[in-house]
Amino acid sequence: MKKRLVAGMLVSLMAVSMVACGSSDTGAADTGDSSAETTDAGSSDTAADSGEKIIVGFAQVGHESDWRTASTNSVQEAFSEANGYDLEFVDCDNDSAKQIEAVRQFIQDDVDYIVIDPIVSTGWDTVLTECEDAGIPVIVIDRTIEDSDKYVSWVGSEFMNEGLASGAWLKAYAEAKGITDLNILVIEGSNGSSAQIGRTDGFKKYADQEGWTILDSQDGDFTQDGGQQVMESYCKSYEGKFNVVVCQNDNEAFGAMDAMKAAGVSYGVDKDVILISFDACKAGLEYVQSGDINADFMCYPLQGSYCADIIQALKKGEDVQKQTFMTEPWYVAEDILKSITYTNNAGKEVTEDLIQVTDAASQASY
Ligand code: AHR
Repeated sequence: MKKRLVAGMLVSLMAVSMVACGSSDTGAADTGDSSAETTDAGSSDTAADSGEKIIVGFAQVGHESDWRTASTNSVQEAFSEANGYDLEFVDCDNDSAKQIEAVRQFIQDDVDYIVIDPIVSTGWDTVLTECEDAGIPVIVIDRTIEDSDKYVSWVGSEFMNEGLASGAWLKAYAEAKGITDLNILVIEGSNGSSAQIGRTDGFKKYADQEGWTILDSQDGDFTQDGGQQVMESYCKSYEGKFNVVVCQNDNEAFGAMDAMKAAGVSYGVDKDVILISFDACKAGLEYVQSGDINADFMCYPLQGSYCADIIQALKKGEDVQKQTFMTEPWYVAEDILKSITYTNNAGKEVTEDLIQVTDAASQASY
């Protein structure tokens, strides 16, 4: 497909991109239904219908986690040849410079659309201006871009709400268990990513408000090795001094569990340490079910079909919405709390269900 056909429509789309229409913002991992399958929501329209291939360049973050593998699969599935796409996929290996280079290469290659999952949230305006000048619409998925609005649409998670929900859960859980003194170690995701920033800030808001002690907060790079290394060092530096560990994704939690086990620290339901995680991938939820992780806050990775829907809408000259938030449930090991209430990032008080993990829930996850 010749991108020039869509270049003209881009200007007007950008002007109306705040208007909600086109792609659905529901579905994904539906809240409150533990039997809801976290399969890709599925676009009914395929490019194959029109007979010409649409060329899409996708600059993926890397391959650091189970979440990322699911995200890559989702995009590759949505932009398959059978669906009428020609996908140029670049694994940027968590290297921001490589990611900018990949986007510039997509411009050189004259692709029809560019999809970016931004490793970090800043440093984007120059290259997005280059995309705009080349007339190539950019769709952002998962993480956000904070210093430019030169993209047509974004699909992803409200990371701040994930952090706020984890804080609201810990407050309610500690009260229910009669735990008054919380000494917390945080293993952050890759610094500068919007996932790390939102989860850190959201949780910290509760820590500050409740007077909890955050003993330390270090970067585990969203990897199992990173989580293990940071936790090994924490176990030495804070021996006997902590009773909560917050890992900003499941893979870090898997590494942290190995490190705690080796150091003789028990974790999970009614153990030395309350363990909190994010992502709620299949393996993560299995650990919640076994009581090793106390609570896991879902980040929904199957965004490929949402992205394809946006491209199909653009192709037809339809308006698309500027932001689409994934619906994400919160999972817990015990049934002592049914829901949490907190003020979300939009300033709205919300009450959200807590789902006690069953076989069906963990098997349905990604
Ligand atoms: O941006 C989403 C985050 O990145 C996920 O929580 C994490 O697992 C991934 O690596």
